Amino acid sequence: MSEASGSPETHPQPASAPAEPEPSWQGDDPREPRPDLLEDPAPWLHRMRSVAPVNETPIGIWRLYRYADCMRVLRELPAGVRRTDGSPGQAAMGGGGLSGEGGQFMLQQDPPNHTRLRKLVSKAFTPRAIEHWRPRTREIVDELLTPALEAGELEVMGGLALPLPSQLICEMMGVPVEDRKLFTDWTTRGIHILRAEFLSEEERADVQDAILHLADYFNALIAKRRNSLTDDLLSVMIRAEEEGDRLSPDELLVQSIGLLAAGFETTVGLIGLGAKNFARFPDAAAQLRAEPGAITTAVEECLRFEGPIGMTTRVLHAAAEFDGRVIPKETTVWLSLWSSNRDPAVFQDPDRFDITRDPNSHLAFGGGVHQCLGAHLARMETQEALGALVQRTSLLEPRYDRVEWGPSLFRVPASLPMGLRAA
Ligand code: HEM
Repeated sequence: MSEASGSPETHPQPASAPAEPEPSWQGDDPREPRPDLLEDPAPWLHRMRSVAPVNETPIGIWRLYRYADCMRVLRELPAGVRRTDGSPGQAAMGGGGLSGEGGQFMLQQDPPNHTRLRKLVSKAFTPRAIEHWRPRTREIVDELLTPALEAGELEVMGGLALPLPSQLICEMMGVPVEDRKLFTDWTTRGIHILRAEFLSEEERADVQDAILHLADYFNALIAKRRNSLTDDLLSVMIRAEEEGDRLSPDELLVQSIGLLAAGFETTVGLIGLGAKNFARFPDAAAQLRAEPGAITTAVEECLRFEGPIGMTTRVLHAAAEFDGRVIPKETTVWLSLWSSNRDPAVFQDPDRFDITRDPNSHLAFGGGVHQCLGAHLARMETQEALGALVQRTSLLEPRYDRVEWGPSLFRVPASLPMGLRAA
């Protein structure tokens, strides 16, 4: 039965479905973690897209695997991240877990709250504002790569993929870079709040602990910054709070933590996965060396081919039909970004890593009103990091047999030791 890695044999079907050899959800129970899919989720996703593109799971959440269906939910249908009465949807962005109200981060709010929160910080993330940070990014990349090239080796995660985005988001927000070690751990653990409904008591306690540490840390930082406001992002948000009713103290705290968390672990994953693919496909690296300008399309291909975030979620605000099946109003729907990005109906030869692919309208950043606010920042950082890594080497030699995966909620390698030959 299994042509997929991560076969359903590892997920026994419930005894309650004897008449049907495979339930429509293919035995892939969303309550169970799937570490087996980290290595290469593509075969499994191709299978789900072809045999169960619209499936209802045993806990009432529906999942969509086709690009067109995901786009329809993100851009066309009435949908939000909460139910129509404003309550959090099932397993929707930390809805049913530690934060009873469903969380105050912009990604956990529907308009008009979402619009207000996003607008407060959106100026800092426009393409123009982000270009301002490119020279600084180049400087950091150079500081990280120069000693690695001299040594002839680089542990890509610890030596490039992690320090670059964390340093930059700290500088943008006005968070002391020397505290990075502290909140790298807290955010990696705390971000699992997004799947709080599926965690054991012990795991929930761990998430709670990490979030309390983050809250204490940011409360102290905000209190200190109030006396010396600058033009960093934290100061912009503090001013909005002090100037009246635009941002409550709780919202200020949550947006600060949320931006920091959203701002680096994802990009760490993208840079790491991208470096892994350039090492795995030396022809792509050679092509980029010959055409340095292709870095822009190359980064889009990294996002499509192996983006760090597998799915996003919405709650339908009206019943909708997909493939002859009606998903009821108020249902939580999981949209597979990974599967959409390998959908042959949209991407020719989808399992090929093609750094000049154009057009490439992948869904790695989601879509609609919640489309990733940090997309330009993530792109710019990755262009600088991978562009320099490839241009300044003539060989990237993986020194691992299998990738080890980190504890992140996202797809982030734990370490990627590589040998480098300087160009
Ligand atoms: C490779 C890096 C990144 C990826 C793949 C990524 C992906 C995503 C995805 C899939 C969403 C949900 C979109 C939706 O549901 O439609 C999202 C939202 C968001 N991302 Fe990113 N992200 C990345 C980097 C960043 C960075 C660097 C920041 C900067 C702070 C950031 C800030 C945000 C914020 C604030 C939201 C919520 C936006 C809203 O609700 O309006 N992200 N991101």
